[in-house]
Amino acid sequence: MSEPVLNDYQFKQKHLLGLSDYTADDIKFVLHQAKTFREVLNRPVPKVPTLRDKTIVNLFYENSTRTRLSFELAQKRMGADVVNFSAGTSSTRKGESLKDTIRNISSMKIDMVVVRHESPGVPHFLTQCVDASIINAGDGAHEHPTQALLDMFTIRQVHPDLKGRKIAIIGDITHSRVVRSNIIGLIKLGAEVTICGPKPLLPRFVDTLGANVSYNLEETLRWCDVAMALRIQMERMGAVTDLFPSLREYHQLFGIKMEHLERYPDFIIMHPGPINRGVEMESDVADSDRAVILDQVTNGLAVRMAILYLLSGGNRV
Ligand code: NCD
Repeated sequence: MSEPVLNDYQFKQKHLLGLSDYTADDIKFVLHQAKTFREVLNRPVPKVPTLRDKTIVNLFYENSTRTRLSFELAQKRMGADVVNFSAGTSSTRKGESLKDTIRNISSMKIDMVVVRHESPGVPHFLTQCVDASIINAGDGAHEHPTQALLDMFTIRQVHPDLKGRKIAIIGDITHSRVVRSNIIGLIKLGAEVTICGPKPLLPRFVDTLGANVSYNLEETLRWCDVAMALRIQMERMGAVTDLFPSLREYHQLFGIKMEHLERYPDFIIMHPGPINRGVEMESDVADSDRAVILDQVTNGLAVRMAILYLLSGGNRV
């Protein structure tokens, strides 16, 4: 689909549960809309009244910094009424079920729910409980579609066509929802994806999604246009700390270092955050001019504005 056709594209999605439900054209259309919102963010008053008649609830059952702030800011920049729910300070602690919580919130006439939960499938379940549009802000190790959309947007700022682009995703693949959404989205847009990390952190599902697998960081960095590092998620490993010997050894074998940037002068560096400096990459790598990590954060705002706008049935910015 060439860019001009995008203006007439009929976007039919009601929810954003995962990129597996979106076609390549849906994804391109969201990224196209996000460009407009990225420009809005550069205005002296970076606001549009698009969602001023909408009420949105942010339902966060799991910790979040970037994603939560980004959604809330996006909603406020678009004039929506926003209510925030965090499991830690709510009746969840008194034993209320997810279904009851959502039914009660729904009685308050909400238009959209942004949900993060530690169990995969919760966003899908919510579509059966309420009439609102549901946006998945991360469900367990399943999907994190807005993160993948903002990652694709950021890559396209450097490489406008993803077709044939070589994207390496390095780190804790087993516990990552970011990786699944990225593999699905990137492959739909024609990119080639290689997953790299220690064997115990690379699950089997990656080849079923069409990604290549490598256990060799050096080869992977020589090959790629983009190196996306993922956090080692110690909190999800529970008692299984024998997945690899130590964070120090992980860094030695799979951490991106300044010497790699010198040896391979072209690849850009991404990370969804939060970064463990000195583990996934040397601190200087994260701060180097090859890193687009803070661009990812800014672009996240534009991408979330685009999604909120499209799911609310909007057609004018
Ligand atoms: C990620 C997440 O929560 O899935 N972070 C994010 O949304 N920016 C990755 C992580 O926690 O490491």
